[in-house]
Order: sequence, then C-alpha cells, then structure tokens
Amino acid sequence: KGEAGVIWNDETSSSMLSKRLKKVVQNYKAMNKYGVTFSNPEGGRRQQKLSGPRLLCQLKDTVKMTTLTPDMDPFTKFPWASQLPAQPLTSTIGPFKTCAVVSSAGSMRKSGLGKEIDAHDAVVRFNAAPTTGFERDVGSKTTVRLINSQVMASEHHFLSSSLYSSGTLVAWDPAPFSSDLNEWYNRTDYPIFQQYQRYRRLHPQQLFFILHPSMQWQLWKRIQENMAEPIQKNPPSSGLLGTVLMMSLCDVVHVYEFLPSRRRTELCHYYQNFKDAACTMGAYHPLMYEKNLVKRMNKGSDQDIYNFGRVTLPGFNTFDC
Ligand code: C5P
Repeated sequence: KGEAGVIWNDETSSSMLSKRLKKVVQNYKAMNKYGVTFSNPEGGRRQQKLSGPRLLCQLKDTVKMTTLTPDMDPFTKFPWASQLPAQPLTSTIGPFKTCAVVSSAGSMRKSGLGKEIDAHDAVVRFNAAPTTGFERDVGSKTTVRLINSQVMASEHHFLSSSLYSSGTLVAWDPAPFSSDLNEWYNRTDYPIFQQYQRYRRLHPQQLFFILHPSMQWQLWKRIQENMAEPIQKNPPSSGLLGTVLMMSLCDVVHVYEFLPSRRRTELCHYYQNFKDAACTMGAYHPLMYEKNLVKRMNKGSDQDIYNFGRVTLPGFNTFDC
C-alpha cells in the first residue's frame, strides 16, 4: 500500500468516522458547555483554505501563550497566589533551539524514537505518560509536562507519584469561552487551584505554571475558522496546546505521533492496553480538526510522517509575517 493512503489527510471530516464514533462526536458537537459564541461567516463554512505559512502567521499573531502570575485579578486578593511563579513561563525557561513534543498515542510503541527525542534541547510530555520502561520508544528526558486538571484531580496519584517530579509542570483547565479569570475561578471543570496549592506545598522547589485560559479559545477559533464544518465547542487537546506552547519557546518543534505514522493503531496510549479510535480521532476535543491544521502547517515531508510520525513546525520567533 502506498504512503498517500496512510498519512493524515488534512481534509479529514466527521463523515469519515465509524458509525459509532460519528454519533459520539455528534453528541459533543451538540453541546456548548463553555458558552462559545463564535461562528464562521456563512454558517460555519470557511471562506478559503489558507496556506501553511498563512496559518502559521495567524497563530503567531493571535494566539498568545501566557501563564498566571500573582499580580492578575482575582489572584491579587488570595494569599495563596504567592505560590504562583512571579514571572510567566516564557521568561523563566528557554528559549530552546530544538524541541520535541511527544504525543501519548499507541503508535509510539515500537517506534524506536527514544534517542532521537532525547537529542532535542527540550522535550514535552503529557499527563500521566511515563518514560520508565519505555525509553527506547519515547526517550527519558522531560523538560515540560503539560497536565490537565482532570489528571490533577484524582487519577494517577498526582500528589505522590514520582511521574510528575521531573521537569517543569504546566497545568490547564477548560475555561468559559469568555476566558474571564473571575468566571473561570468560580467554575473550573476540576479543582485545579486546590490541587495546585496542595502540590506546591509538597514540592515547593519544582517550577509549576498554570496556563492562562485565553490561549485555549484563541487557538480554538483558528481551528474552527479554517475548517469546513462546525467543530466540537470544547478546548483543544493537551497535545495541540503543548505544541503551540513550544512554538513560543523553540526555534524548531518536532511533534511525534500526533499525525499517526505507519504504526497507526487503535491503541489509545503507548503505556496502556486500552483500545479506542476516539483517542486518535477525538470525541470531547476537536482533535481531528487540530490534526488537519497541523498537517497544513507541517514543514517536513510526508515520508517523515509515514516513517516516524514526525511533523516539523517553525518557532514563532523564526519567521516574519
Ligand atoms: O490522552 P492524553 O491527552 O493524555 O494524550 C496526550 C495528547 O496526545 C493528546 O492530548 C492528543 O493530542 C495526543 N494523542 C493522540 N492520539 C492518541 C493519544 C493521544 O493524538 N491516540
């Protein structure tokens, strides 16, 4: 079978999903939990398909990566806010020359990409993705771990597991579309602020940031306006948030197995034996549309995707718009 039939098609739409997954995605599309009020001109139809460089410029100009600092309202009035780093992430770590974003996809298994991943100046991993026992395929370096508030709330012994003790932690939680910090603070999806305070008391030396929620919806708007159908009105996946985070910190970003390679599998995560196509195609997250966008921005070859699941994206500081 030729490569063309296997690598990600940047026009992937919900019509290409299985009957079951189509239904699940349709259900998520019918919800609007976060009060999204944005729709494209012409009722959700994009006007024209933007080129990769135009898309990159759109992201660079409109998606601002920031983290919470103690001087932001309403945090100024909370004594615990002194636990937040005084400076944003981008002035604390980096800049880096080369960065690797390691998706947690099942197709990382048997990839043998560990050495290549570790050769980058910085490596990002997600949620509960381990390295111990998987070094050959995913490497062992962790510079940043991006975690969602659900993982912080309960699963995987967040407060005590050594999984989270290396590298800089960055947490995020789905926020109302308004991205108003007061509104979000009073109705987070999971208790991100309580868990943050607990973790900081237990590990006061580790760098730990919270993403400003405006980024998730700025990015969501770019995805929606570049797609031909309405997407789920939920924030992008950790994988895309981490990719854009690294584009703000690095000259070159390699993303592994976000666009599946020839090892594509129904296996959800490389570190679990659970199978579900929704992990690669998205259910709650607009993941399939995120992948369309990343495919369009890719500077690398289709062969790189096919063989290594590798996408190459330029850092925001390396191009002018
Ligand atoms: O499942 P989790 O969110 O922890 O995985 C980290 C990221 O890896 C996801 O947010 C998604 O972007 C990516 N991923 C994927 N395909 C999979 C599993 C994860 O693209 N099968």
